[in-house]
Amino acid sequence: MEKIFLDILRPDDWHVHLREGEILSSVLPFTYENFRSALIMPNLDAPITNISLAENYYNEIRKQIPRGIEFTPNMTLYLTNDLSKNEIEKVSNHEYIKAIKMYPKGATTNSDLGISDFKDFHHLFEVMEESGVILSIHGEVTDEKVDVFERESVFIEEVLTKIIEQFPNLKIVLEHITSADTVKFVNEQSMVAATITIHHLMVNRNIMLSKGIRPDFYCAPILKTEYDRRALVQAAISGNGKFFLGTDSAPHVAGKKIASCGCAGIFSSPLAIPLLIQLFEEHSSLEKIELFMSRNGRAFYGLRQHKDRVRYVKRSKSIEVIKDIKTSEGKITVFNPNGEIYWEKEN
Ligand code: DOR
Ligand code: ZN
Repeated sequence: MEKIFLDILRPDDWHVHLREGEILSSVLPFTYENFRSALIMPNLDAPITNISLAENYYNEIRKQIPRGIEFTPNMTLYLTNDLSKNEIEKVSNHEYIKAIKMYPKGATTNSDLGISDFKDFHHLFEVMEESGVILSIHGEVTDEKVDVFERESVFIEEVLTKIIEQFPNLKIVLEHITSADTVKFVNEQSMVAATITIHHLMVNRNIMLSKGIRPDFYCAPILKTEYDRRALVQAAISGNGKFFLGTDSAPHVAGKKIASCGCAGIFSSPLAIPLLIQLFEEHSSLEKIELFMSRNGRAFYGLRQHKDRVRYVKRSKSIEVIKDIKTSEGKITVFNPNGEIYWEKEN
């Protein structure tokens, strides 16, 4: 059989949760082996709220990357009132701190320090706008009166449009977008780009809830409809520079997911790239995958394109794939909704 392969620039993951301690050591190899760089989220149990904490976290990560592996951990700071204008100015010239992450209070894992009223941060948005620092946003309201499926759309209407109006030159990445309406919104804004996860591209709320509950597909923002999923796929395969991959890979051990009050988060780093290749292949769009995985994000973040390439090969039979990883607190399931994987990295 003719050998089918895909040569691409090594991808970047523009949104990943690596945690710390044993979980960090267990999940990190899947990121540095598969990606050239990653933007690492700051929502640790003690969030990364300033430059010094981000530098310590960076060093902890770096120590665990074997020599010979080209991988850049790009860091984020968690937006709180402790952040000063001076710190933000320093971020604008920082070698590897690349964004400030805004969590609405209560939106997700470790968001207790998140913001309640974005107006409290106008003075910081102003400096970010002036100095070109990117605001990365978890775009959901957390008001209990708002339906969980409407959290993103209400956030756009009530919060994001106001931030954009007042800070028209602020560069914003709306993270893990979930719906057709949000794709449309992002397309209409000149300074806004968006990350899309592999799970929002592959599964919908029916798959999560209609034939029994699938806790491994529970994430924040919650999965939306099939119509929304298709709109996200169209955005990803379009090659449009506003959309790029951020896996939002978010490991939680099984005991925390399958519980009376389970955590939101899907661990997708190990198979994210083969799953994406399969998805783009099904849509006859493999020629656009490098834009989505390797080029668009770098361009938006203003980073130089590297020259590091990787080859993926298509096997004639489904390959043996990893199902979970083990930690002392339990296993972490790897996202793979279809089971069959034909593409693998050529070593
Ligand atoms: O599902 C999620 N899990 N969404 C997030 O925004 C955070 C993440 C986590 O840290 O567990
Ligand atoms: Zn996240």
